[in-house]
Amino acid sequence: MIRFIVNGEARDVAADPGVPLVAVLRDTLGLRDTKFGCGQGRCGACTVLVGSQAVRSCQIPLRAVAGKQVTTVEGLGSPGSPHPLEAAVRAAQGAQCGHCGAGIIMDVKAFLGRVSRPTEEQVREVVMAHECMCGSRSRVVKAVLRLVPTTRRP
Ligand code: FES
Repeated sequence: MIRFIVNGEARDVAADPGVPLVAVLRDTLGLRDTKFGCGQGRCGACTVLVGSQAVRSCQIPLRAVAGKQVTTVEGLGSPGSPHPLEAAVRAAQGAQCGHCGAGIIMDVKAFLGRVSRPTEEQVREVVMAHECMCGSRSRVVKAVLRLVPTTRRP
């Protein structure tokens, strides 16, 4: 049995400690807004926060989060009260098919926790590190830039 905190709630999971975290989140805990894509740490669809750090949850085993805080996109807001990042991305129509959106939002959230006044290039680098098949990443970049003060804006 492994206990960890998911979106503020203590969860006990009786699963193989070596199973990837993404499988536990999606299949055991039903948090299906965290997506599974490549399974190789490349696409970013499975990104969640462990503490304040963004991680590819397909690349870490359940045992690595024992006793830790995990936040998925479901822990940021709700449909009726979305997190400002979610609202900004939606308003910019940056979530097309929805496969990459949650992972990008979690990565950007972690990034903005470290860098309060990013450059446009920094934001672009974080967003573009995620694979996207419907071409909406540029809109996500614009949405984030509208939301945060950058070092290039007065
Ligand atoms: Fe984890 Fe692609 S599914 S990075």
